This record gives sequence, C-alpha cells and structure tokens, in this order.
Amino acid sequence: MRIEKLTKRFGANVAVDTADFHIGKPAMVGIIGASGAGKSTLLRMINRLTESSEGAIRFNDRDVTHLTGRAKREWQSQCAMIFQQFNLVPRLDVVSNVLHGTLNKRSTMATLFNLYPTEDIHKAIEILDRLGIAEHAPKRAEALSGGQQQRVAIARALMQDPQIILADEPIASLDPMNAQIVMDALRRIHEEDGRMVIANLHTLDTARNYCDRVIGMRNGKIVFDGRPDQLTTGAARDIYGAGADFSEGATSTDINALETPQQARIRDAEALV
Ligand SMILES: Nc1ncnc2c1ncn2[C@@H]1O[C@H](COP(=O)(O)OP(=O)(O)OP(=O)(O)O)[C@@H](O)[C@H]1O
Ligand SMILES: [Mg+2]
Repeated sequence: MRIEKLTKRFGANVAVDTADFHIGKPAMVGIIGASGAGKSTLLRMINRLTESSEGAIRFNDRDVTHLTGRAKREWQSQCAMIFQQFNLVPRLDVVSNVLHGTLNKRSTMATLFNLYPTEDIHKAIEILDRLGIAEHAPKRAEALSGGQQQRVAIARALMQDPQIILADEPIASLDPMNAQIVMDALRRIHEEDGRMVIANLHTLDTARNYCDRVIGMRNGKIVFDGRPDQLTTGAARDIYGAGADFSEGATSTDINALETPQQARIRDAEALV
C-alpha cells in the first residue's frame, strides 16, 4: 500500500496533512497519536468512507483514490473496517450480523428476504468458531460482552475475505482482558492469513506489543514511522506533544512512565543545585 501526500481538510482545519508512507508487505501497523491527531480520518480515507482533499491511495499499484460505484464498493470490501463501538445490529442474532459482511456481494432481493446461501452460513459459523465464539451464534448481538461483540465485528469483516483490515480503536471500549483477546485475534489473523492490519491504537504498549511497525501522528502529520523498538520515550513524547495531558483511561503503563514537562522542569532544576 502506498499513501502519497494524502491530505484532508475540513474547512480551514487540516485533519491529515500530506501523509506519506508505504507498506511493502502485509504487516501489522499501529497508528498512535493524541486525540484529534487525524488517525480516524486517515483510516477512513483509505477505506474511502471519507473523501481525501489531495494525494493518492494506491494498493498493488492500483490507484484507488477516486474509484466510484461498484469499483469503490469492491475496494471497500477489500479493506474491511472495524470500529470502537462494534457497529453491530444489536437486536439481530450473531450469525446474521456476520452474514452482513457479505452484503456487498448480494442482490437486493436476497437481502430483503434475509436469504443467505447455506455455504455462507457454514462459513460464518466457521469464522465464529475460529474466534472462539461459535456457541453464541444464535444469540442477539446485544446479549454479548463487548469483547465478544468486537469479535463478531471481526468475523463480519472476515466474511468479506479482505486483504486489509482497518481497525479504528478496536479495543478502546474494552476491559484489559477483552482488549488482549481482541488484539490476539487481530494478530493471529494477520499471521495466519497474511492479511494486512492497520489499527489506530490508544495506548503505546499495545502498539509496541502487537505491531511490526508504528506510525505516530501529531496535528495531522506523520511524525514517527518505525519499528516498535525505535519508539523511545523521547519519540513518544514528540508524538503526544510535550505537555499533553494524558487521560488516565487512555494511558498505558508506558505513557505513565513518561515524564511530564513539569517533572522534567523539576528534574532540570534539581540538577542545577
Ligand atoms: N467530519 C468532520 N468534520 C469536521 N472536522 C472533522 C471531521 N472529522 C474529523 N474532524 C477534525 O479532524 C481532526 C482529526 O480528527 P480525527 O477524528 O481523525 O482524529 P483522531 O486522531 O482519530 O482522534 P481520536 O483519538 O479522538 O479519535 C480533528 O481536528 C477533528 O475535529
Ligand atoms: Mg479517532
């Protein structure tokens, strides 16, 4: 995937500013940055949920930036999105939610009458089984825990057999245990199926633990792009901005370990005496 000078303006506000990067092989990439840095806008542009203002998105040497109609829908099913709030149909059973992942490929009539081919139903159950939630297949989505619902959303994405999975804060609404289960599932899908995963992540340590590569954004610009081991405390401070007040809910142990500017001033002052 090649992202070339990709830019999104909302009026005078530049949400993503000439983003440029290349993902050569199906890696697992984490995007981090403070709130408002442009992470969601970047993912949404890649999926074409949001139109870019300038620049290009290329995949396998094909320019997908301006596809329309059927070609655009095909691209969108090649790069499935997963959202923080799962975006399931709460009152619908789990299997039907997963089968929604095939909507792009089905006729309006079949959709209207909720007719799914048997092989699709088997495939849906298989995917649910792989994610460890097949037993919940007949339940309403709303009856499941957050972690289970996010796995249903992943199953729905897998139903499209996408080459790329774009996950926008997939674990931001989950407790630590469910967060781990969901990140493990994404990592496994990446490793076993060779799918590219690009995930916006709230916490540094999640990005460090699960990703091959981390992209850091600040004020719409990419300010870091490297391996997790290159993501030093200094680099992290650059990404989040000196003086950024991290909310407790969003902080990882690593961020907690970062010095605040105030602490740095105290340290410097102490060094002087
Ligand atoms: N639909 C929109 N209309 C106007 N401005 C928008 C819109 N979507 C995003 N923005 C602005 O673009 C900037 C980037 O927003 P974005 O949602 O991409 O950030 P983010 O990094 O995903 O933040 P968060 O961590 O809070 O999800 C922000 O200044 C935001 O207010
Ligand atoms: Mg966001």
